[in-house]
Amino acid sequence: MSKTAILEIDGKKYEFPIVEGTENELAIDIKSLRGDTNGITTLDPGYKNTGSCESAITFLNGEEGILRYRGYSIEELAEKADFLEVAYLLIFGELPTKSQLEKFHNDIKAQSHVDEDVKKIIDGFPKSAHPMGVLSSLTSALVAFNPSSVNVDSEEEMYNAIVRILAKFPVLTAWAYRKRVGLPLDYGDDNLGYVENFLKMMFKKPSGEYVSNKVVVESLDKLLILHADHEQNCSTSTVRMVGSSHAGLFVSISAGIAALWGPLHGGANQAVIEMLEAIKEDGGDTKKFMAKAKDKDDPFRLMGFGHRVYKNFDPRAKIIKRSADNVLDALGIEDPVLDIAKGLEREALEDSYFVDRKLYPNVDFYSGIIYRALGIPVEMFTPMFALGRLPGWIAQWREMRLRKEPIGRPRQVYIGEKLRSFKDISNR
Ligand code: SDX
Repeated sequence: MSKTAILEIDGKKYEFPIVEGTENELAIDIKSLRGDTNGITTLDPGYKNTGSCESAITFLNGEEGILRYRGYSIEELAEKADFLEVAYLLIFGELPTKSQLEKFHNDIKAQSHVDEDVKKIIDGFPKSAHPMGVLSSLTSALVAFNPSSVNVDSEEEMYNAIVRILAKFPVLTAWAYRKRVGLPLDYGDDNLGYVENFLKMMFKKPSGEYVSNKVVVESLDKLLILHADHEQNCSTSTVRMVGSSHAGLFVSISAGIAALWGPLHGGANQAVIEMLEAIKEDGGDTKKFMAKAKDKDDPFRLMGFGHRVYKNFDPRAKIIKRSADNVLDALGIEDPVLDIAKGLEREALEDSYFVDRKLYPNVDFYSGIIYRALGIPVEMFTPMFALGRLPGWIAQWREMRLRKEPIGRPRQVYIGEKLRSFKDISNR
């Protein structure tokens, strides 16, 4: 394979190096393009063909449906690791030893309190506020109570900010839910595991003991692993972009939460369940909704289907689909929308519109069915995605800072008015 790419413009040739990744991905390094060509840049809305960075964290192969965190397959990690182990792996690059994991968890527990004044901020939100908006605001507000988390140049300072956000984010997520349902903003129990403690913070009733369910804890732990990172997706790129100005970790994550909220991104898991419920209410006629999804004049899309990178099955969707069957069986739950989802998948995989466009179920298609079976309300589905994605955002932000990446500042092609003179209002 050639090591350079040649660009010819007006008979003049420009040569650019081709960089090759560990998994043989190739990219044309155009760092010198604008300078070499006296101002010519590239144009790539949505960055469909543009790499923003070199990263050693997550590898995706969309054509083959491969996903690996630091070289480990998502299938192995989902089966053999727990969420905190995967968080450590993503952030620091290696699976932790027993003592490293214990120290990591203890350092997180040591920071698991949230200043009582944060409750005054939560009090200011209406009960109807969407938890993603509350979470983005609270994560940003956390800076005021953790000023040492802002200017983190040393790895030690970064570590302290990292364990703080890993400790406090589950509390804020649980409190965002409890505010909506009118429950006291309480803590869990630091003697429990990370995920088990989160579930206790979410669902503990004021007057009774919270009894953990092993199936629920293990299912949520697996779901969080499956959502933990996904290379340069919209919200992660947002976290990197905000962090590239050397804004703090917490506000960078707050921006990532906002980006994840969109229905084309993490908000799709809530939109999928709402879509499946609408199909059920409408009598379960999946063919009618498939026709709507294919109709260019109809804004309806089959939520949970399609992906910018995966042009094959999203490996996470396959794992979640299997897990959905197991969880519902183990909990003795019949959920009619699971059958509707499976029906839609079957029809789409036989329909040329979807096959030609390589549209397969993505991570959001089945996840809501499990969340619902675990007792998590639909408006908390995307916050669950954020809780899972938190270690990935942290890992990518840390890598960007440690590699001393430049501030993000894309160019554009201006298509507006040429120079014109000001007109006095009396002449307009
Ligand atoms: C996530 O990037 C990541 O890694 C994200 C994520 C992560 O872990 O971070 O994996 C999480 O965000 C998963 C995606 C969740 N979103 C949805 O499920 C929403 C529904 N999906 C689509 O909106 C869409 O598929 C996207 C946004 C996911 C991808 O959009 P692209 O890559 O920009 O593709 P496109 O919109 O250009 O679509 C290509 C064609 C179009 O038809 P034509 O113009 O070629 O005729 O496919 C069609 C689209 O209309 N299409 C769909 C469709 N998705 C794409 N048609 C119907 N239903 C759909 N869901």
